[in-house]
Amino acid sequence: MKNGLEDVIAAETQLSDVDGEAGRLIIRGVSLDHLVAGGTYEGGAALLLDGLMERSFNEAELRGWLAKARTKAFVHIEAADAALLALPPVDAMRALIARLPDGDDFDTALALLAAPAVLLPAVLRLQCDQKPIAPDAALSQAADILRMLTGKLPSKEQVAALDTYLVTISDHGLNASTFASRVIASTQAGLTSSVLAALSALKGPLHGGAPGPVLDMLDAVGTAENAGRWLGGALDRGERLMGFGHRIYRVRDPRADALKGALKPLITSGQVDSARSALAQAVEAAALAILKARKPDRPLDVNVEFYTALLLEALGFPREAFTGVFAIGRTVGWLAHAREQALDGRLIRPRSVYVGPLPAAA
Ligand code: CMC
Repeated sequence: MKNGLEDVIAAETQLSDVDGEAGRLIIRGVSLDHLVAGGTYEGGAALLLDGLMERSFNEAELRGWLAKARTKAFVHIEAADAALLALPPVDAMRALIARLPDGDDFDTALALLAAPAVLLPAVLRLQCDQKPIAPDAALSQAADILRMLTGKLPSKEQVAALDTYLVTISDHGLNASTFASRVIASTQAGLTSSVLAALSALKGPLHGGAPGPVLDMLDAVGTAENAGRWLGGALDRGERLMGFGHRIYRVRDPRADALKGALKPLITSGQVDSARSALAQAVEAAALAILKARKPDRPLDVNVEFYTALLLEALGFPREAFTGVFAIGRTVGWLAHAREQALDGRLIRPRSVYVGPLPAAA
């Protein structure tokens, strides 16, 4: 048995491949750097779902259907009462998604792709006593998310940055949430159940819950000069540095550079303050040096969450919403894996080794 199922192969997939030694991510035969070069959320989603649903479609068709599905999803915000709005945004969003009917068909998948994109901005606005903004079917999913969040039409650099983020994190091998999605799909419970299980796995700080704490870390470090001292203190206290280390990658996570690249046009066009990114780069350099010195036997490098934090902050998302934005992008991966598993048809049911006491002899 391998603790944490490390290196255990638990599925065959045509969806994505993570090469942790080479630092390479392939999604359906396309490398990440190609996918993010001008790629849109809808293009990435069409690629992932191609051939897995009962009908085939292209990027433009998906964009139109998604726009309609967002309008339909908006009605569910009416169920957001005071108790629901007192929850963290990702939990409030999960409770609202749980209202969607279960099913295995394309309409269920569309509803699940649209719902997080509409419900997260609406929840965030209600939590600040602002009126939720209805979707605009003329916009792309990325542009509409930003408009529903801020009430303003986003710039083309902002839309491109969010598209890059959503494509970059759309799928990533058999991570914990994707595995959860496949386990549920194997029982034939339905796509809504798969997505809810995956979302529950995602929110932990060892998976998709790290980018908020990355910003907390940057705030606590404060200045580039303080980085080494602060990070050393955190390691002395036995803490992990958020945004560093990965179960699979032994080199730099390629998604980190895709997101760093997406941030650049926002900085050069003066839409975000370059001081934050300068601090982040100083913290990154100090963290890599100190991790190398303290953990010489374990290569620990920057992971996707470090630059996720900077990018989502630059786009105006509050840090408590970062895991929810991750879910907006990853839902298509969860759905594709759930469909792939359902088409395989085999129930996932591993065994455990019993190490407890035996009954007393009679
Ligand atoms: N800071 C300090 N030490 C670390 C870190 C870190 N971020 N990550 C791993 N280590 C150390 C760990 O303490 C252990 O040392 P030792 O052997 O002396 O006890 C060694 O490295 C191996 O750690 P591990 O727990 O066996 O590694 P893992 O493969 O189970 O952990 C991880 C992967 C992502 C949970 C971990 O690196 C971590 O906790 N990182 C911080 C949280 C974070 O950034 N999470 C986002 C992950 S990326 C999103 C995704 O793809 O899901």
